[in-house]
Amino acid sequence: MVQGTEAGTRIRLAWPDVGPEELAAVAEVLESGFLTMGPKVAEFESALAHACSTEHAVAVSSGTAALHLAVLALGIGEGDEVIVPAYTFPATASAVALTGARPVLVDVDPRTMNVDPSRVYDAVTPATRAVIAVHLFGRPLDWEALQAAVAPDVELIEDAAGALGARWRGMPCGGLGVMGCLSFHPRKVVTTGEGGAVTTSDDGLDAAVRRLRHHGIASQGDFEIESPSTNYRLSDLQCAIGIPQLARLDELLAARRRIAEAYNERLRGTVEIAEADEGDEHGWQAYVVQLDRRDDAVAALRAEGIEAQIGTYALHRLRAYHDQGPFPAADACFRRALALPLHSRLSDSDVDRVCSVLTQIVS
Ligand SMILES: Cc1ncc(COP(=O)(O)O)c(C=O)c1O
Repeated sequence: MVQGTEAGTRIRLAWPDVGPEELAAVAEVLESGFLTMGPKVAEFESALAHACSTEHAVAVSSGTAALHLAVLALGIGEGDEVIVPAYTFPATASAVALTGARPVLVDVDPRTMNVDPSRVYDAVTPATRAVIAVHLFGRPLDWEALQAAVAPDVELIEDAAGALGARWRGMPCGGLGVMGCLSFHPRKVVTTGEGGAVTTSDDGLDAAVRRLRHHGIASQGDFEIESPSTNYRLSDLQCAIGIPQLARLDELLAARRRIAEAYNERLRGTVEIAEADEGDEHGWQAYVVQLDRRDDAVAALRAEGIEAQIGTYALHRLRAYHDQGPFPAADACFRRALALPLHSRLSDSDVDRVCSVLTQIVS
């Protein structure tokens, strides 16, 4: 592990692992004169498709843009329903609502914090077009149970915003559904500052996402635009950062796994820790535990100069999605989940510092 921060110095929640390679890649693009729609986009996309074992990947401006385009590409809109977890980052549901379709909230399994497939089964109606399933914090969802919960004509979209590098039974998350949606926000394992991608092995959906991210203009077309669309492109500058990041995916994952295992060792039996199912590989986008005195823990950690954060949102508590519910498991996760610092600059002694504050709160 790297050298630790000294007692009393701040421990950051996240720290993007970028360095000289990324800097050189940006300089190269600046010197090339192709700042957007140049060769780095295609190079990044092909590396992403390889990482997710899909035929295609389309780079876009954020994970939210990826989700929005995935829903649009399926032709989902007014009158349609899309099932989303009640406990997730709001973008999962906003991407649906922005198309005019209705996001139908479904409660999560309080242990995994991922959507509960048996509740997905109960929520399906004749209007259900798709499920957006989240591998929350990088923990792979039980994909087989989800597939069994819905008829084959209900499309399964993965919100793999935090799951690049995670594996379900050996298969890469982001390559399990009809489309996978990735994010490259700085709190993710691979970052481009802001950014995202849609992965798919369906040629038609690939073409639709490419068209929709570029004003509705088809790449081999006659400049006709059939319906109003977006500019959700990702620039060559950002893709250039993503290429060396992605080349280091295994190394970046290993660094996070090492920290997560150090936390697990110290915190097992003290708080509820989130491990992947047997045979799966956690992507460790965030290290999130659950405990009853979460708010006290956040205050105590911050008082010691350690950044800590809630897990994510219970959507039915937000004014945007308040008209559905109740969701007791999402409520419990919202109240109890705690994200601890997780990045490659943390040392063993940093982990000790975090765990000793947490252990004192619980005991
Ligand atoms: C589960 C989930 N979905 C979607 C997003 C949105 O990604 P972005 O911030 O790149 O728009 C996030 C971001 O944190 C997320 O955690």
